[in-house]
Amino acid sequence: MVGKNFYCQEKEADKILIYGGQPLQGKITVSGAKNAVLPIIVASLLAEGTCTIYDVPHLADVEIICDVLRELGAEIKFNSKVNTSAAVEINCQNLNNYEATYDYVKKMRASVLVMGPLLARLGKAKISMPGGCAIGTRPIDLHLKGLEALGVRISMEHGYLLAEAPVLKGARIYLDYPSVGATENILMAAALAEGTTIIENAAEEPEIVDLANFINSMGGKIIGAGTNVIKIEGVKSLGSTIHTVIPDRIEAGSYLLAGAITGGDLLLENVIIDHLKPVVAKLIEAGVEVIEESTGLRVRSNGEFKAIDIKTLPYPGFPTDMQAQFMALLTLAQGTSIITETVFENRFMHAEELRRMGADIRIEGRSAVVEGTDKLMGAQVKASDLRAGAALVIAGLVAQGETTITNTYHLDRGYDDLVGKLRSVGANIMRVKSSKTEPLKLIYQA
Ligand code: EPZ
Repeated sequence: MVGKNFYCQEKEADKILIYGGQPLQGKITVSGAKNAVLPIIVASLLAEGTCTIYDVPHLADVEIICDVLRELGAEIKFNSKVNTSAAVEINCQNLNNYEATYDYVKKMRASVLVMGPLLARLGKAKISMPGGCAIGTRPIDLHLKGLEALGVRISMEHGYLLAEAPVLKGARIYLDYPSVGATENILMAAALAEGTTIIENAAEEPEIVDLANFINSMGGKIIGAGTNVIKIEGVKSLGSTIHTVIPDRIEAGSYLLAGAITGGDLLLENVIIDHLKPVVAKLIEAGVEVIEESTGLRVRSNGEFKAIDIKTLPYPGFPTDMQAQFMALLTLAQGTSIITETVFENRFMHAEELRRMGADIRIEGRSAVVEGTDKLMGAQVKASDLRAGAALVIAGLVAQGETTITNTYHLDRGYDDLVGKLRSVGANIMRVKSSKTEPLKLIYQA
């Protein structure tokens, strides 16, 4: 049974050691998408039956969201692991609680997504206000405004949101910003509302499409997911289904960057190439070879890169979740690159750590100016958040000497078997308990 035991062992090992310089060669299988599987697991709350979900990645965030659902009365079983993915069976026939407590919500903001389904199923929800987040304030005002448009009454007491809606009625909702989470919360509530809901200026991410497909497979009536106008016709009830999660475009993009920065030749299997268009376009602009093959996407590089400019935008623009990883590559490009982060207000914390490795980066407002240098040096660095951690791993793979990354629990949130996958393509990388101090070189000279 996959579950807590898996992660409590991992939590003891809170350092990643990398000895840079190995070009990555071989192939990596990409796991199911974290940002699809989380809302899909939450959407299982809508079903009066059993939902079986395949290609569920082995992530700390998946453990947390399953704990949230168990607290609400869901029965959840992890079946045998295929590769590192699992099949999860979720039955929410007997929901007996409408409260998502602070302990869970503080661990993972995506827990607020349970509001929509709880209101749809039980007419009530009591959710702890999500705390702050390293990458930005990340308010949920658009979630609440959308739910209120559906007839939900919301008040706040002692840090909790109390939401009630004896009846949910379809409405036309315009999102001031194409928020992924707000689109998902409203979509799930509207699926069981009376009448039709139209969400305008909706988020267009592939994970929204996967969520809509999942709900439609339960008997939902959603059209337009993947565009900025989504129409949901409420139905009386939703039933059992079987669904396979789409591949993780951000995990895939991170490995493309790892293959490129090390001057390697890496094939990624289980990718939807269309979801990676903005990342591939920027890699090609930076002088990296990316080839579509019958079994996946290949990245090949000679280790030399051109400076480019990047501006993060909602999908189909360049994804903010790939900004940190790309910055690692651009620290070695010839020339000056400008990276502008328009989605989150504080998502450059990796710059400070990359500077410790010899990178030349200065932050000017919402832009980072990256002056290419000829090398990075291994150093002791700290992961401040999930994608910043990925950027430090990518930099460590090419840095001269030894890099030690702490706070690796951030990486466990979004990368399934990161160390194992990188080792399988030749990286000198390992995970050790915080107490271990033997020099990495001895390990790898053997
Ligand atoms: C989702 O977060 C992803 N998380 C994030 O991935 C991703 O970076 C983000 O979408 C943008 O693509 C999951 O799907 C679990 P948003 P979400 O609502 O839904 C503002 C990762 O690394 N906003 O689209 O929280 C907000 O402050 C994570 O995998 C409001 O102002 O993102 C931010 O500036 C990080 N009011 C912007 O919108 C609201 O009510 C984008 O947020 C909601 C959002």
